[in-house]
Amino acid sequence: MIPEHGRSTEEILRELASRGEGDTDWRGGRVFSLVYHAGDAHEDLIHRAHALYASANLLNPMAFKSLKQMEREIVQSTGALFHCSGAVGTVTSGGTESILCAVAAYRDRARKKKPWIRSPEIVVPRTIHPAFDKAAHLFGVKLVKVDVDAEQRVDLQKVAKAIGWRTILIVGSAPQYPHGVIDPIAQLGELAQEKKLPLHVDACVGGFMLPWLERLGRPIPKWDFRVPGVTSISADLHKYAYAGKGASCLVWRSIEDLRYQIFVATDFPGGIYASPTLIGTRPGGPIAAAWAALQGMGADGYLALAKRAVDAADALRAGIVAVPGLKLLGRPDATIVSYTSDVDVYALADRLEARAWSIDRQHRPASIHLTVTANHAPIVEAYLADLRACVAEVRANPSLAKSGQAPMYGMAAKMPLRRLVASQVRKVIADMYA
Ligand SMILES: Cc1ncc(COP(=O)(O)O)c(C=O)c1O
Repeated sequence: MIPEHGRSTEEILRELASRGEGDTDWRGGRVFSLVYHAGDAHEDLIHRAHALYASANLLNPMAFKSLKQMEREIVQSTGALFHCSGAVGTVTSGGTESILCAVAAYRDRARKKKPWIRSPEIVVPRTIHPAFDKAAHLFGVKLVKVDVDAEQRVDLQKVAKAIGWRTILIVGSAPQYPHGVIDPIAQLGELAQEKKLPLHVDACVGGFMLPWLERLGRPIPKWDFRVPGVTSISADLHKYAYAGKGASCLVWRSIEDLRYQIFVATDFPGGIYASPTLIGTRPGGPIAAAWAALQGMGADGYLALAKRAVDAADALRAGIVAVPGLKLLGRPDATIVSYTSDVDVYALADRLEARAWSIDRQHRPASIHLTVTANHAPIVEAYLADLRACVAEVRANPSLAKSGQAPMYGMAAKMPLRRLVASQVRKVIADMYA
């Protein structure tokens, strides 16, 4: 309830702080994909930058020239990092918004260039992020999902086969979220050029990590604008750029393609309304915080963070393969680790959660996911010790697969009627709002 009388600033802030005390301990590295933390001093910088522009609104770039300039600088820095000096683009609220904007723009591009296509299709790997399913659902486009090989990279021959006269776009990931594997972007680029199709690279999770890994000498296959067929890239600032939440970047090679992102309404009595992203009001806080994160960290800061993250990921991988019965999935392309087990994976996840780790459970195949950041360097040994103990517990007591959350995850993963799974999940979420 809105209180009858306003409360004091101190009282409100005290209550807000105490409300968060029961949340998972992300500063302590117990969470693996939801938060990217680069230390308290950096956090303080992005909070203060955010506060300076918390009420500002980039809906009108004439009124907020400061924010427009920050957006331009963020996009130019991102384009340069991805080897395209003339790149253009927009800052959005997150990976999903960048992807929604890209799909809507490519749909409208096809409407203009290939008006005979009534049911447009986008060819994507099976491992593509569900933001593309959401975009397809919202914008009336069909996703044609292509299988992956044993290393979880999209199968090129199957991509070639999936392309038809209705195809308007090809998508690959750098890397994909579930196993951290980079799709063969150079080959997808050749295919895209051969078929005269655009190619979007979803680098939401990897965009601000892969360039530093390459500079550290890791063997990173080409995935950015150096691949001639790549026409656009989504890359999240609020992930490995360690910006505050609510910031991503959609970068285009050409202004001609960006144009399709811009929506204009001319009949509104409130005036001509133009908007390049999905949202109307564009909060200034996340843009200022993202700009501050790039400035505060600098290339040397990001290199140091990437080194810590990749060393932690390598140490986790080495510790995991040393446990009998555990197996890594995918390839060590980036800083994502994913593993499966010969004991029930979901029982293992329950046991790890009982030891205060926040666990990302995956399916097809059943596995556990870790997006590893610099903040995880100090917890590697503690995680591995708990993992060894939990594997032993589940091995000694296989009936753990029948208790806790394990049966629910197991059933949801295997149930053939996916619509039934969706309707049950929808009910659970609706109940949270009821
Ligand atoms: C590869 C990839 N694409 C898109 C997204 C969606 O990003 P967001 O959660 O910021 O909307 C994610 C999020 O993890 C991702 O890993």
